[in-house]
Amino acid sequence: MSKRVRKAVLPVAGMGTRVLPGAKTTPKNLLNVVDRPILSYVVEEARAAGIEHFVFIVGRGQGAIEDYFDANPEIEGALEAKGKAEILADVRRDLGKPGEMSFIRQMAPLGLGHAVWCAREVIGDEPFAVMLPDMLMAAAPPALAQAVDAYEKVGGNIVAVEPAPEGETHKYGIVALDRKGGDGQNGRLNRMTGMVEKPPLGTEPSNLFISGRYILQPEIFQILETQPRGAGGEIQLTDAMATLMTRQDFHALEYEGTTYDCGDKIGLLRANVAFALARPDLANEARAAIEALL
Ligand code: UTP
Repeated sequence: MSKRVRKAVLPVAGMGTRVLPGAKTTPKNLLNVVDRPILSYVVEEARAAGIEHFVFIVGRGQGAIEDYFDANPEIEGALEAKGKAEILADVRRDLGKPGEMSFIRQMAPLGLGHAVWCAREVIGDEPFAVMLPDMLMAAAPPALAQAVDAYEKVGGNIVAVEPAPEGETHKYGIVALDRKGGDGQNGRLNRMTGMVEKPPLGTEPSNLFISGRYILQPEIFQILETQPRGAGGEIQLTDAMATLMTRQDFHALEYEGTTYDCGDKIGLLRANVAFALARPDLANEARAAIEALL
């Protein structure tokens, strides 16, 4: 029986170039979608998948992330004194429980693979999740829970994927599949035979891109230890996974849901609109405001 997935790595140390200057003083994962930071949704998604320990890989100037999950007696006291119970509960909803969050500095943004490697001592010898927090996923059950469910069926390594928009496969990491093997979830879970970072158009092995939720075995750390720089001069997680795939099983899960790339201006805007329209307390007002603008 496979070991349970208890820990998640959340790398947030990237530059956030595409959402500058907003991401200059506010780490991009603390930018709001409606009234909560992006990270709040992702931690909620992780909790729903049974994650018990969160390992944030942070960069310089991102202390606000740690502060967000910490108590703030001044704000909480003021809300309490004013009897604002609902807002207080909302503020407290995201507080970390004692000991469940670790913050590790990635001293230079050398790439996603390097960021994940920075978590090796805290993860130890057990399977773990990786969540790219700027990819916000609206899904029921939540996306990571779908990946954990797939992992419990087939073990090994799981990579969440979804169809790339028409003509855009060259912008993403794309997977190659063996659709005959491993189907445990209505044709959505398939054995992977390869993956390629940003294939030139016309050469892509499928239209499915790696969308930001992974379950990996700890052997990935040994590979990352000596992983040379790849595309863009960065230490790429995809390259290390391709090596691990020569030794262990990988399955791609085409999860059911919608992804919003909040590291991108339009993606962040779409997420705000979609999440506001999905909120029972805001839907009517949000719809009226959007319609008025159109
Ligand atoms: P991205 O490339 O999407 O994020 O990395 P970025 O670098 O912040 O964005 P741009 O391209 O400059 O706009 C995917 C995830 O990996 C993290 C990022 O924070 C993001 O969550 N990451 C990337 C790190 O933690 N460290 C790195 O060295 C690189």
